[in-house]
Amino acid sequence: MKKDVIIACDFNSKEQLFDFLDKFDGSEKPYLKVGMELFYAGGVEIVKEIKKRGHKIFLDLKLHDIPNTVKKAMAVLSAYDVDMVNLHASGGSVMMKGALEGLTRADGTRPLLIAVTQLTSTNQELMTEELLIDKPLDEVVMSYAKNAKNSGLDGVVCSPLEAGKVKSVCGENFLTITPGIRLAGDAVGDQKRVTTPALARELGSDYIVVGRSITGAEDPVAAYRKCVKEFLG
Ligand code: C5P
Repeated sequence: MKKDVIIACDFNSKEQLFDFLDKFDGSEKPYLKVGMELFYAGGVEIVKEIKKRGHKIFLDLKLHDIPNTVKKAMAVLSAYDVDMVNLHASGGSVMMKGALEGLTRADGTRPLLIAVTQLTSTNQELMTEELLIDKPLDEVVMSYAKNAKNSGLDGVVCSPLEAGKVKSVCGENFLTITPGIRLAGDAVGDQKRVTTPALARELGSDYIVVGRSITGAEDPVAAYRKCVKEFLG
């Protein structure tokens, strides 16, 4: 397994995305995260175009539906040759196993399948009052991670600060994909707890997801290289 820096391409048009990518010289092909905003703006054509340019893609669409629907949707996404996709672990283990089946291509290869446990926007109050889940939040997160692992998934999205605990519960090889990253001195924005790429490396993250510290930098290419240097050494 190769650790890497994934750039969160939170743009709302194809033009903005390609203006950004054109700043990199042809030899550098960062791993890119395409989320709902860009996917709904640019459609599958954007995914195909990014692949054609030689980038790896984490398609962050967080699927959550009945098992049969998720399985069939995953088969479609897998055919686009993306490298990583995700779903909500709260859809349950039958849904997660269906997703894995759908993702697996005829030749046995498949994109990595990652679970979202509880969103970082969910707090204890929301969980207890609205979702009627009365267990402590961190217990719920670790339990969902274990369900994902037992369903055959490859890892979870979590904070670098949780990476060690996830690995102690689910095993060293279970991947941790970690947003909430800032280069030292950058604005935190709406993130609550942030770590630098260097600290994420120390804490054992496998992939860091970095958005605004790169996309909002005066020199995005230099910021990307700094993240890579700190995280991969
Ligand atoms: O700009 P910033 O580095 O904060 O972007 C982080 C990216 O990771 C965004 O695309 C955000 O939606 C995503 N993300 C997150 N926290 C999660 C899951 C996803 O920040 N728990």
